[in-house]
Amino acid sequence: MTTPIPSPPALPLVGNLLNVTGAQPGESALKPFERLADEYGPIYCLWLGGSERIVVANYALFEELCDETRFLKTAGQALEGLNELRNTGARGMFTSPSEKDPDWGQAHRILMPAFGPLAIRDMFDEMHDIASQLALKWARLGSEYKIPVTEDFTRLTLDTIAICAMDYRFNSFYQDEMHPFVQAMIGVLSEGASRLKTPKLVQKFMYRRNEQLRIDSKYQMDVAIDLVKRRREHPSEKKDLLNAMIHGKDPKTGEGMRDDLIAANMITFLVAGHETTSGLLSFAFYYLLKNPATYFKAQREVDNVVGQGKVTVDHMKQLHYIEAVLRETLRLEPTAPAFVRGPRPENTDPFPTIGGGKYALKKDSQVMCLLGKIQRDPAVYGEDANEFRPERMLDEHFNRLPKHAWKPFGTGMRGCIGRPFAWQEALLVMAILLQNFDFRLDDPRYDLKVKSALTVKPDGLFIRSSMRAGIT
Ligand code: HEM
Repeated sequence: MTTPIPSPPALPLVGNLLNVTGAQPGESALKPFERLADEYGPIYCLWLGGSERIVVANYALFEELCDETRFLKTAGQALEGLNELRNTGARGMFTSPSEKDPDWGQAHRILMPAFGPLAIRDMFDEMHDIASQLALKWARLGSEYKIPVTEDFTRLTLDTIAICAMDYRFNSFYQDEMHPFVQAMIGVLSEGASRLKTPKLVQKFMYRRNEQLRIDSKYQMDVAIDLVKRRREHPSEKKDLLNAMIHGKDPKTGEGMRDDLIAANMITFLVAGHETTSGLLSFAFYYLLKNPATYFKAQREVDNVVGQGKVTVDHMKQLHYIEAVLRETLRLEPTAPAFVRGPRPENTDPFPTIGGGKYALKKDSQVMCLLGKIQRDPAVYGEDANEFRPERMLDEHFNRLPKHAWKPFGTGMRGCIGRPFAWQEALLVMAILLQNFDFRLDDPRYDLKVKSALTVKPDGLFIRSSMRAGIT
């Protein structure tokens, strides 16, 4: 006997739309979902866009959903929406609806080695190059420069993924305006996010926005296809993701990737590879500066490990406290704040359940995992779960956490392929910046405000820097 999943009353036509659209300025778009969890409990059900969405907000239920024998990633409304928006036929790995999708399988098998530890290590010098550009900019502009943290980190992460993935320089630090590709990318992402709150029927009549979307998506795809063509015409020896895709053969089928699939994955890497990491770095600076004891500990670690010399790839595995800072930041502020799981279609169980058999699911249920709640579950992290305490994420504690307690990079087969890339980049940037500058909040009274597209970032966060020693 199962128990009905709690559900806020739904209105005709719009269902529960009004329950989830009440984010205040400065709040994440998922805040209303979190408030519903406070009211209805760790599992509840909504009617959105004409279909049922289940939301899970505690560790016990999430742990079940991470069981890959019973559940798997399903594309969810946001990702399905992105596929529709792109309308290209080829799907990048992130938005692929299923592990059974042959395009996903091929890309996954060809790209896994390209994201392996040795390949990422080889990208260190290019990451260092871009991080030094950021440090030079801040050094040159001096302590009078009110650093727009999120914007500058977005320039950094975008330039880093572009050079490491496809040897392309956006040179974002040398222009005031974002590159047109980035503007198009932001256009597609923010339209994707705003459509989550717009009924499908209404979307059909948004003629001007639909046209802008078509232009932005086409522009992105044209730029990416052009990059593939140029690389084919002017081959290079560089070990980057583009070459891995152009020359790689699927170990299962022996086939190579089509150009449109390569292009779709390049766009995926540019999007998935920069928004999330720039949010991580921005939130990390916010929390460090709001908690000066942690800031000084992190800086002391860099001084002890690196000293005044150049930050090298071998330093990365010695930065234990900074690693804990990054883990704790992503626990509190998972920059990809939710993902969607559903029962495995091949399961023979005709009546899937969750909650140890308590709640019935349907075979095609989509369950949204609300990481902002799950990773702050007091049952796992204690009564101070909402506090920033990197010490709890040092290896000796981190390795003893329940298996799925920290999942900002997703889980299972469809977990983040770019995790080692993001980690090396974030550790390196933290090390270079803390080594060379002292930082303070521009306004010490600033309290965290968040802006959401498909990822979340701090809003209105400004800091000031002063040089400690020469840039290395
Ligand atoms: C998948 C988070 C950095 C590429 C994912 C997922 C999450 C995530 C949660 C799973 C989504 C789902 O289940 O629906 C993050 C975070 C990052 C980060 C928090 C940084 C702090 C990167 C980077 C890249 C990247 C740097 C590429 C260079 C991807 C791709 C997938 C993915 C391609 C899809 C994998 C698949 O479906 O097989 N990421 N990511 N991510 N990420 Fe990341």
